[in-house]
Amino acid sequence: MRIAHLSDLHFGRDQHQVADAIISQMNQLQPDLVIISGDLTQNATHEEFQAARRFLDQLQQPAHVIPGNHDLSPTNLPERFLYPWRKWQHYIQPETEPTTETEDAKILGLNTARRMGWYLDWSRGRLNEQQMQRVENELQNTQEEKLRIVVAHHPFWLPTRSQHRKLVGSRDEALTIFDQAGVDLVLGGHIHLAFAQTLQGVVISHAGTTTSDRLIPGQPNSFNLIDGNRQRLTITEWDWQKNRFEAGKTTGFLRQNGEWQHSRPVESPYQPN
Ligand SMILES: [Fe+2]
Ligand SMILES: [Fe+2]
Repeated sequence: MRIAHLSDLHFGRDQHQVADAIISQMNQLQPDLVIISGDLTQNATHEEFQAARRFLDQLQQPAHVIPGNHDLSPTNLPERFLYPWRKWQHYIQPETEPTTETEDAKILGLNTARRMGWYLDWSRGRLNEQQMQRVENELQNTQEEKLRIVVAHHPFWLPTRSQHRKLVGSRDEALTIFDQAGVDLVLGGHIHLAFAQTLQGVVISHAGTTTSDRLIPGQPNSFNLIDGNRQRLTITEWDWQKNRFEAGKTTGFLRQNGEWQHSRPVESPYQPN
């Protein structure tokens, strides 16, 4: 099974050449599924959602797409409070929390973006009990060999240089439920920094911003390619280098007794061309 994980496209702040390259790169790599973990737009305007729609229409592969905090209007407060997902539903898809099931995997999207919160920074995200319950219910009768993936925009783990950012709210409760439900992989974005890590026996992996110019120092535009099955996985970060994407760091994982751990050494599944 092969999954491409893109994130934080931020149409409105997108770089056309990079977005175009993604379409041809996907055709070349031929993933079974493309996962996009939120922030499709910069300011949730009609024009930006239309650009995101055009991008999705060009993708030849099936896509599993969830929203991020930037897909809520930052300035149109009636829209933000009364019908926050209207444009999302009009341009992208009816669901904000899709479920995708393939021969090899079950993928659950969770919407962690919120209209407001009891804190000043409304870009933060959280999970509620119903969402955790859904993960439990939907994974209950999933075939043992299927990879179980949760996609949520906000982070469950933060690398050292992103410690100033906030973890998704209710992270610990969610992780306990995920562990009981046999979740293998949690995919996210938001911090525009790519990583692949284990936490309590689950693989947590984020893609950087795939197409936008909202870059943090030292992290180019990127997407991740996930290859493998429920026993063994590799996650390869593909980075934008001058004028094309190139396979970079590969991290390997092994599942033993229901727990994922790093496997070493790891050989890149991709040969330079
Ligand atoms: Fe973002
Ligand atoms: Fe975000």
